[in-house]
Amino acid sequence: MIKLAPSLLAADFSCLGEEIKKVYDNGAQYLHLDVMDGSFVPNISMGPGMIASIRKVCDIVFDVHLMIDDPIRYIDDFAKAGAQIITFHYEACDNHKEVIDKIHSYGIKAGMSVKPHTDANLMVPFLPDLELALVMTVQPGFGGQKFMPEAVENLKKLNRAIKALGKDMDLEVDGGINLQNASIVKDEGANVLVAGSAVFGAADVAGTVQEFLK
Ligand code: DX5
Ligand code: ZN
Repeated sequence: MIKLAPSLLAADFSCLGEEIKKVYDNGAQYLHLDVMDGSFVPNISMGPGMIASIRKVCDIVFDVHLMIDDPIRYIDDFAKAGAQIITFHYEACDNHKEVIDKIHSYGIKAGMSVKPHTDANLMVPFLPDLELALVMTVQPGFGGQKFMPEAVENLKKLNRAIKALGKDMDLEVDGGINLQNASIVKDEGANVLVAGSAVFGAADVAGTVQEFLK
């Protein structure tokens, strides 16, 4: 079954509660929360304080995507803010296993991500310890970019590796996903689709969420 993870980055920040309800009420399973530090990526977005304050809106799963350097510094804060999945970048640290263990110490799920031009095979040794693998299909940092077809190779690599392990885990794609290319990534094994502008930028948000989930 496909899961939809609308990215809050594309929502109207003046009424986040209403925006979240719209996607939750129409069946979106995850809420994708993009955290950017202005260093790992050239943009700054939201922090643990904001995430903690939207936690009370509904029970949607908080899928936190950390695009920050040296992520171990902030695992405590995001776990305490209500994250149920914390994904960090392979490129952002050297202490991968330590970061995964720290996330797991909160009883929540750990994910790892690669940028489009990082070889996803580098993530394969960590798959046995992860609950989610995230393939970026744009350069991280901004919403509303165009899907990079060359990143599908990373999706194929991870799908093969996960199948070989026989592991039940999420394979998520993020960046430029819309109703047109959703079937391409789904056919390559993705089961969680992140969509920001395609969902919150749509004239009919409710209808778009339902369409993605069909
Ligand atoms: C990009 C973020 C994405 C982004 C997706 O750095 O990781 O989650 O919000 O937005 P769209 O779907 O508009 O590409
Ligand atoms: Zn993201």
